[in-house]
Amino acid sequence: MLEPQDPQLADNPLYVRRAERANADKPPSQSTPIGAVAQVRAPGVASRQAMMEGIRAQDDLVAGHFGTVYYKPVKVCGIDLKLEPVQPSIGTIVHGLDLAKDLDDPEMVAFLRSLWLERKVLMFRGQAHLTRPQMVEFAQRFGEVGAPFGEREHVPNSPHDLNQQIKAPGIPDMLILPSDETVPNAASGWHADATWQQRPPMGSILMCREAPPVGGDTCFCDCYGMWEGLGLETKERVRHLKAVHVGTVGHQMDGKTPIAVHPVARTHPETGGTTLYVQQGFVRRFAEEHGIPEDEERTLLWQMKLQEGRPEYTCRVRWEVGSMAMWDNRCVLHSASGDFWPHRRLMERLTILDYDESRRTPYYAPGD
Ligand SMILES: [Fe+2]
Repeated sequence: MLEPQDPQLADNPLYVRRAERANADKPPSQSTPIGAVAQVRAPGVASRQAMMEGIRAQDDLVAGHFGTVYYKPVKVCGIDLKLEPVQPSIGTIVHGLDLAKDLDDPEMVAFLRSLWLERKVLMFRGQAHLTRPQMVEFAQRFGEVGAPFGEREHVPNSPHDLNQQIKAPGIPDMLILPSDETVPNAASGWHADATWQQRPPMGSILMCREAPPVGGDTCFCDCYGMWEGLGLETKERVRHLKAVHVGTVGHQMDGKTPIAVHPVARTHPETGGTTLYVQQGFVRRFAEEHGIPEDEERTLLWQMKLQEGRPEYTCRVRWEVGSMAMWDNRCVLHSASGDFWPHRRLMERLTILDYDESRRTPYYAPGD
């Protein structure tokens, strides 16, 4: 077994179990995207070691920059910022800020919040110097720092999720997300974080501490676009429905799987816009009270699924060491690209809860 990315992993039974596959020289499981992509890149290679060598030889990458970048120059609190759009409707990379010292002025925080509401995902480059406590301070500018999965009313303690078992010393609210040669790992699949909570976290922050030279991007999908893009008939049919969000076995607390019922159309409490608040990661069915026949339910969920990850609503960001992203879980789905094995990736995540508790529970209030 290689040296794990976090020393705590060495004693982790789940990690050790998965590491056995690596010790036996077996390729990562093809039932995960990471394993499937590796299989595509090194077809017919049964040895994990040979697979890693083959893929690394294909990549053989060095770092560099090319091309022209378009950005919008703005001056805020005397600081020159460059706002680089990732896609027309979603995602902005903010250049020119040192998050450790440029946020003391409330005007800067207000500017970033309004940009965040408009662009849904902000990314900051070059923040590797930010310590974990400084990440917490940054998050507190925008809301209350939540537990690793948001609200403290349901804190998973399942032995089946590797991620939640690695704690940042002194910062129990931070989730450490490692992925290495031995135990590949990526949250690939469209979801918003912890929507199986009654009051899912408003936002999430992700910091990259170790980046693969290629792959491992995160994709973000605009849920306003998903709502707008639904056919008129479907929109009217589902507008007042509720859907059931079910956590995975890894989200269990004391053996109990969390379940929450949320509106299908959600009013964003700050922008007033409508988002499609359904994602196939956690949504399993419509609320029983609606009595929707199984066939129709399947069709409706399928129509919604077709909106997930449409290129027009989706942006994709490359990670570098020190890149930090903040997204709005109320109007954004995200999915990691599980394509980077055998390269390593190490991320740190915080959740943010709305300071205004009355806005934490999802609702639909058209015309407000
Ligand atoms: Fe996530």
